[in-house]
Amino acid sequence: MDLSLKQKQDYLLRQKKELAEKLGVVLADSYQLFIKTQGVHWNVSGPLFYSVHQLTEVHYQNLFAAIDVIAERIRSLGEKAPASYTKYGKLSSIVDEDEPASADDMVEMLAQDHEVVCQSLRAAIEFVDDKADYVTSGIMTDRLAWHEEAIWMLRSTITP
Ligand SMILES: [Fe+2]
Repeated sequence: MDLSLKQKQDYLLRQKKELAEKLGVVLADSYQLFIKTQGVHWNVSGPLFYSVHQLTEVHYQNLFAAIDVIAERIRSLGEKAPASYTKYGKLSSIVDEDEPASADDMVEMLAQDHEVVCQSLRAAIEFVDDKADYVTSGIMTDRLAWHEEAIWMLRSTITP
């Protein structure tokens, strides 16, 4: 059955809670990754120090800006944005990790965490795909492109 644009928009309004939950996971993932990325920026050492220190600075600044955009999209959908470390820890499947590690291991950890965010983003994009929510879809697709590029940049730093 083909739905009209109006029917799709009504359908989205009815489902906005479920969408906001999916965006809440993306928000929680992004916050967790922001913290871990800044931790690597501070604590990395060894021959890769300068490149990893610089790359993680670019990444955590991007994540910090994105967190605001994602939270405000949740508000635009009429839902409350999760806003505590406890909630982020429960919502995100990114593992809290703050132990001494080699630069290679730290960078690979971040690459894997970016992959977790990509999965959460794909779940949100798939959810809005048939509901004419072009704005959420656009924001999430832009984020997905950025994270995939970040994974490439991180892994290129440690691949000989
Ligand atoms: Fe710094």
